[in-house]
Amino acid sequence: MRWALPLVLLLAGCDGWPESPKPPPPAAPPEGAIPRGEAARRAALAPPGPPVDAALLAEGAGRYAIYCTPCHGPGGRGDGVVVSRGHPPIPPLPADPARTMAAIAENLAGAHPVADRLDARQRWAVARHVAALRGGP
Ligand code: HEC
Repeated sequence: MRWALPLVLLLAGCDGWPESPKPPPPAAPPEGAIPRGEAARRAALAPPGPPVDAALLAEGAGRYAIYCTPCHGPGGRGDGVVVSRGHPPIPPLPADPARTMAAIAENLAGAHPVADRLDARQRWAVARHVAALRGGP
């Protein structure tokens, strides 16, 4: 144990580890890289969404026809086939894309369990299609 005393004294005089040099800033992602993870998902869902062009609107029309028409009808007037089969009346769709995005994300009224079927781009596509149908932005 006699050897321990010099070691303790030596360590007591130690001033901690030297500062490490700062790591370099992260490199920019390579061109064409696809962002992943929760932050990327939130960013993709945040307004204003992808640019509104013919391709996005066509994609939205296709998804809307599959997932929304049975209840909201082809024009979003609440005259889908379920209403003619006894579903309580469905109000006309609002034009605001934010409300469409929320209705999909939150499974509004339990009628929209589609959050796992529509990725961020498809949700924006549906929202923009609904806005176009209903004369909104
Ligand atoms: C099973 C029937 C059904 C389907 C399918 C359906 N909806 Fe709905 N949706 C409803 C009903 C019912 C309401 C009215 C809920 C209420 O007023 O409480 C509603 C309300 C809404 C609203 C109004 C939200 C608000 O802020 O007032 C939006 C927007 C909407 N739906 C979008 C969609 C979209 C987009 C789809 C397709 C992805 C869809 N819905 C598919 C039944 C449906």
